[in-house]
Amino acid sequence: MRQKRTSSVALKMLMAGTGILLVLFLFAHMAGNLKIFVGATAFDHYAHWLRDIGTPLLPHTWYLWIQRGALTVAVLGHIFAAVVLARRARAARPVRYAHRPKVQGSYAARTMRWGGVIILLFVVFHILDLTTGTANPVGDRQHPYANIVADFAPARWYVTLFYALAIIAIGFHLRHGIFSALRTLGQQSPRGERIGRAAALTLSLVLVVGYLSVPFAVLTGLVK
Ligand code: HEM
Repeated sequence: MRQKRTSSVALKMLMAGTGILLVLFLFAHMAGNLKIFVGATAFDHYAHWLRDIGTPLLPHTWYLWIQRGALTVAVLGHIFAAVVLARRARAARPVRYAHRPKVQGSYAARTMRWGGVIILLFVVFHILDLTTGTANPVGDRQHPYANIVADFAPARWYVTLFYALAIIAIGFHLRHGIFSALRTLGQQSPRGERIGRAAALTLSLVLVVGYLSVPFAVLTGLVK
């Protein structure tokens, strides 16, 4: 008897839906990070406010935990759909091409799997660095501004380099991911494709520049 299996379209919808949720988080997080340019008091106040979103309806930090739960489920769903879809694609072509065609889509499209793995490793390090403070030279959870300034100090240029490489990898991943999500959700005409491509590039660039601006502002002494 044939096993009943989830359709590939449903899996692509899962990838697109979870991906959009993660991109929305990335935009909100970037906007919050940019508050660092307003000053230490404003930035630390914002970080404390994050713990009070939803109060008094929700108890202190509940919103943050709901968000953490939703992000974890989204990441797991995204990886699950990616793995199943990749396996199906391989099973549909059990014999490898004798001559791999030279052009196999954009650089971003070809690096989705490794891009995803790098992003995952980055997020694990990032949480140990700026959420728990374990990997941070200051690691004071009450003062995230001080943690960031210590993190990207010129002497720790390798941390800035690691962040920069991870953020660029995220940019490539998003460029292809946003474009694919738009296609899954219905964009199919050549004009729609052009608009989708432009939108994916613009959104990814805004995120990359916004995220990179913080470590580079610390590195160059603009934020201290
Ligand atoms: C240079 C860029 C970045 C800076 C300066 C930064 C800064 C921070 C800070 C200060 C926190 C702790 C917030 C708090 O607990 O009050 C944090 C948490 C976090 N960041 Fe970033 N971040 C950056 C890039 C990213 C990127 C690219 C991602 C995702 C790919 C990301 C994902 C997260 C996550 C998941 C958390 C944990 C939120 C939580 O505690 O629930 N961050 N970040």
